[in-house]
Amino acid sequence: MHTAHFDGSFAGWRSEARRLLQAGIAPHTVNWQSDNRDSGLFVELAPEPAPSSPAPALRIPRELPELLESAARFRAEDRWALLYRILWRVTQGDRAAMLAGDSDGSVLQRRIKSVRREAHHMHAFLRFRERPAAAGAPTFVAWHEPAHDILDSAAGHFAERLGRATWLIATPDAAALWDGAQMRILRPCPDELRDLARGADDPGADLWLAYYGATFNPARLNQDVLESNMPVRFWKDLPEGPLVPQLMSQARAGQQRLAQTASVGERSGKEVLIASDKAQPQRPPSTSLGDCRDCAIWRDATCAVPGEGPRDARIMLIGEQPGDQEDLAGRPFIGPAGQVLQRALAQADLTREALYLTNAVKHFKWLPRGGPHSRAATRLHATPKPGEIKACRRWLSEELEQIAPDVVVVLGKTALASLLQTFEPQRLRLADYVGQPFRNGRQWVVVAPHPAAVLRAGEGGEQRFAELVTALEQARQLTA
Ligand code: URA
Repeated sequence: MHTAHFDGSFAGWRSEARRLLQAGIAPHTVNWQSDNRDSGLFVELAPEPAPSSPAPALRIPRELPELLESAARFRAEDRWALLYRILWRVTQGDRAAMLAGDSDGSVLQRRIKSVRREAHHMHAFLRFRERPAAAGAPTFVAWHEPAHDILDSAAGHFAERLGRATWLIATPDAAALWDGAQMRILRPCPDELRDLARGADDPGADLWLAYYGATFNPARLNQDVLESNMPVRFWKDLPEGPLVPQLMSQARAGQQRLAQTASVGERSGKEVLIASDKAQPQRPPSTSLGDCRDCAIWRDATCAVPGEGPRDARIMLIGEQPGDQEDLAGRPFIGPAGQVLQRALAQADLTREALYLTNAVKHFKWLPRGGPHSRAATRLHATPKPGEIKACRRWLSEELEQIAPDVVVVLGKTALASLLQTFEPQRLRLADYVGQPFRNGRQWVVVAPHPAAVLRAGEGGEQRFAELVTALEQARQLTA
């Protein structure tokens, strides 16, 4: 195996890739290391090409470098290996490697598309805040958390739009500074620029919020479209972000019908088919978790079970919903699944007290079965429906925002569907995610089987338990 060390930049990768290609080193024998540290005693560096043999010219299609550079911005563990594999195949005459019909080409094309979309998100959802003039300091500052490495390629857009005004865009990894004539990219982002961008007041915020609230049309609310056009991960950095869940919840709670009936009722005509407000009194929107009536589960539950744990927890665990005992006690993970979790935590060298534990759905959904005298026997867990998971996402979003953990451990498919905002657990295969931590903005996400699945799995229980422990260990290592 050859280890190719480079500085983590596309230019660094390109010159290393050229060297490897010229030395005839096949992709499956290369281990790409984007830090400059040796990973062990027996690292074999790729050999330099023999000086006597003139380097053969590499023939590649003109558009390939641009495609590779764009896909290199997509954050994924295997990004450099994929690019080298494609480059290798193309130089061997296999041009299909670049195309969407090919297994590598389809990943390449999808990544390019995601990178383009992420640049669009930056252009659409970045909000500058104006600062009082100060010599040498930028007038406009913004904080943004892109999912991919698009800052340097996407920031030029703002230079064109803002002309000679000076600005700073800070992100978790890098900062772009425009002095009115030239752009500088600073990597990593210096702490003082991060603080400047994150701490800036927004003098125009009240006016903007009043405008946004007044023009938000509840009768036209389509939550799926809204959330796909304006991904929830950006809300926390948008001035209107905290307002949106509130406006959506008002819309769900009846403003939509109100908005329609008012205008329909004013029309002349034979009959108004839509019920008037008097006939159907509107339910006020839920303002706190304890009062949540956003779906029907609350009716049969004893209480809503909030998350618990320190506000500065670095790891958040998300389960499905409280069970029978959690519902009675008002605390998450204290029943049988909680005991399995407790054992797994101990094996992974973690303590419950250091973590934030919560659920995707906050009320216990159950079906009556069994004898009338045993409360526990009468309440059997029922799986929440997509609409119920979705209705509860606002509470989970609030917790994610407030705790801002470094790592989220997702326990089971319901939690995963809620986190990914697909809300359809039945369409997910947990096996596709277990053992493969991925990044969601600044957070790592680690997916594990639910502790209740360990209890239900019979003979497969040990395997599930081992997967759960491994995931918790990964979470601990990711915060180390
Ligand atoms: N199962 C969960 O997902 N959460 C709990 O709190 C208890 C059981």
